[in-house]
Amino acid sequence: MAEVNVPQHVGIIMDGNGRWAKKRGLPRSFGHKQGAAVFKKTINWARELGIKCVTFYAFSTENWKRSPQEVRFLMGFSREIIHRRVAQMDDWGVRVRWSGRRPKLWKSVIDELEVAMERTKHNKVIDVVFCINYGGRAEIADACAEIAREVAAGRIKGDRVTEKMIADHLYNPDIPDCDLVIRTSGEQRTSNFLPWEAAYAELDFVPELFPDCGRDVLWRSIDHYIHRDRRFGGVKK
Ligand code: FPP
Repeated sequence: MAEVNVPQHVGIIMDGNGRWAKKRGLPRSFGHKQGAAVFKKTINWARELGIKCVTFYAFSTENWKRSPQEVRFLMGFSREIIHRRVAQMDDWGVRVRWSGRRPKLWKSVIDELEVAMERTKHNKVIDVVFCINYGGRAEIADACAEIAREVAAGRIKGDRVTEKMIADHLYNPDIPDCDLVIRTSGEQRTSNFLPWEAAYAELDFVPELFPDCGRDVLWRSIDHYIHRDRRFGGVKK
């Protein structure tokens, strides 16, 4: 696959862990564990393809609605995954990033993310963004609140708010727009994932449940992407 055409930034909605477990008569946590193994491999497959950034939707601001047991599991498990995988990610040249809201998120998860971000901050091969306690509308609202504070402080004129200013106040403003969003498990929606950054992204809804995804699934999505005609609202010459 020619490296020049690969998307720079891929977003992945890792869906179907619960159904994967249910099909086997196992608790949902087994599906998440299997999903975590695929998550790790996906970073390596993306790196091999020359993709510069992958954003994973791990826990949304809406996921607090799940049962207290599942929320507890997902919080503890996210903390563990970050802790257990940071050395491997560092070896691969991954720069760890986090997108999400602090309030409500377990402090131990934030601490683990901060350790990982500090350890990997000089890496340049690929950015891996963990969306944890992330909601796209919340991200835009947080950016607007920050801009409003700057307007109140007299640093910005209220009638001079631009798209660029909003983009500059997102959680990771240096990361380029998302080129391709992949959602596994056959669901065809984006569920509040990167509404700003993925406004012009190509979408690929794949039937496989996330724990069943191999390298071939990522390759197929990248192949679909390469054959799309991206016009960004313009007209092809
Ligand atoms: C969606 O499947 C999956 C999640 C909400 C959790 C994703 C977490 C992992 C894959 C573990 C990796 C962790 C990190 C921190 C990257 P679902 O539970 O909605 O499945 P269902 O739709 O079949 O019920």
